[in-house]
Amino acid sequence: MAVVGSLNADLVVGVERRPAPGETVLGSDLATHPGGKGANQAVAAARLGGRAAIVGRVGDDGHGALLREALAADGVDLAHLATTPGVPTGVALITVGPDGDNSIIVSPGANARLGPADVEAARALIEDAAVVSFQMEVPLPAVEAAAGVAARAGRRVVLNLSPAAPVPDGLLALCDPLVVNEHEAAFLLGGDGDPSRMAAELAGAGPRSVAVTAGAGGVVVADGGGAAAIPSPRSEAVDTTGAGDAFTAALCLRLARGDSLRDAARYATRAGAAAVRRPGAQTSFPTPAELPRL
Ligand code: RIB
Ligand code: NA
Repeated sequence: MAVVGSLNADLVVGVERRPAPGETVLGSDLATHPGGKGANQAVAAARLGGRAAIVGRVGDDGHGALLREALAADGVDLAHLATTPGVPTGVALITVGPDGDNSIIVSPGANARLGPADVEAARALIEDAAVVSFQMEVPLPAVEAAAGVAARAGRRVVLNLSPAAPVPDGLLALCDPLVVNEHEAAFLLGGDGDPSRMAAELAGAGPRSVAVTAGAGGVVVADGGGAAAIPSPRSEAVDTTGAGDAFTAALCLRLARGDSLRDAARYATRAGAAAVRRPGAQTSFPTPAELPRL
């Protein structure tokens, strides 16, 4: 698979509770991990035995070097990872609460410099990948250009709408599937509902297929053939950071191998469940032997 997306250095502090405006709280020691939704997906897929390449940008700083090293160690193809001089690598400021829940602020840095020219440079890679995966941490023009290239070459476009943002109809129509969590689904629909209902509504609103993830509650997938609710294996949450990325990467990997959306989602819930058991994002992603059974 090819991933067109972000790379961030994750600066993580554990807290008992988050500070209110004007308040100071003490947290744990700082941990610095490789992250970013794009880089996470590439690493998750590679660690599960897939071939993964990333199209993205880092700065010429220590964080950029950390990310290059981490992705190279997992065998991700970095031929289209560019460096923007004089701009910081993307950073995510992350707090992890006592239940493994996270809050994230992303400072895009070099990710914001990814543009249509980068997509053009990576055209052959994108046209050759069975599945091309996108998230919303790089500029929309790059996502739209790359999704267009992929779709015209008959490749499968998977978009994880995170963080939630308005999607042009033309891009939405290429998504197969659109992957959203409950908040992102509610954002698109302009109102809350249970995951099955939101999946059915979204499937009728443009994308070719939809996956609505509900964490430990599993996932609902929907396409022309109807909707299916798929449970997640139970797992003890230490740090949920990156679980959505592991899910989406595993989904892409299995779709690339020809699985149906339902079968791919069944496999992907196992990758998501594995990723909550360890701290960090990439640091928590499983090898095939570490996948929990359903
Ligand atoms: O999905 C988790 C990721 O979101 C983190 O690695 C962080 O970098 C942000 O992009
Ligand atoms: Na994790």
